[in-house]
Amino acid sequence: MTQDEMKRDAAWAALEFVSEDSIVGVGTGSTVNHFIDALATIKHTLRGAVSSSEQSTAKLKQLGIEVLDLNEISELSVYIDGADEINDQKQMIKGGGAALTREKIVAAVAKTFVCIVDSTKQVNVLGKFPLPIEVIPMASSYVSRELQKLGATPVLRQGVVTDNGNLIIDAHDLQIADALALEQQLNNIVGVVTNGLFARRPADIVLVGSSNGTSILK
Ligand code: A5P
Repeated sequence: MTQDEMKRDAAWAALEFVSEDSIVGVGTGSTVNHFIDALATIKHTLRGAVSSSEQSTAKLKQLGIEVLDLNEISELSVYIDGADEINDQKQMIKGGGAALTREKIVAAVAKTFVCIVDSTKQVNVLGKFPLPIEVIPMASSYVSRELQKLGATPVLRQGVVTDNGNLIIDAHDLQIADALALEQQLNNIVGVVTNGLFARRPADIVLVGSSNGTSILK
């Protein structure tokens, strides 16, 4: 089974967590693209979707799923998204697709976060995947220097501007023993919009696609 087939399996399994007449929070990435294909098969039972990126919005609209403004709704029952790494506490690194800020906002509003991954994303310790950090453009050099003080090797992602008009610094070589503390510490650097650690708001349910099928971690 290829990695993409494992992603697809996990993504289709997430349909089970979408209730009738609900609004669904939709993440970003190749795994979520499979989920949007799955969602399109039940679109007539939905009130609509809230999207975490221009990329997902375009695909949702193309498949005839209405996209609602997050400010128009007061609650969201479920958010479905992938991850770049996930540990056994369901804490994640996200932002490989540069959509981390809107992902974190939609995840914060959602009652339940269902993470869909293939088994290669499971890790014991977060940090092998470089941690994406969205920064205000004029602060990128300052934030890079602050990251170096924390032991990271910052690399500005070339040619990428986020949906919010900002830049992404990928922080390599971080030892993430305490994800919750590091998430808060990074948020305190002036010029950082969001960092890709999802520890304060981890996933609630993880669907892991593997060659043996998809398993559910609750
Ligand atoms: C997007 O910004 C990310 O947070 C994605 O959720 C993450 O990169 C997973 O992407 P894939 O599903 O493409 O592996």
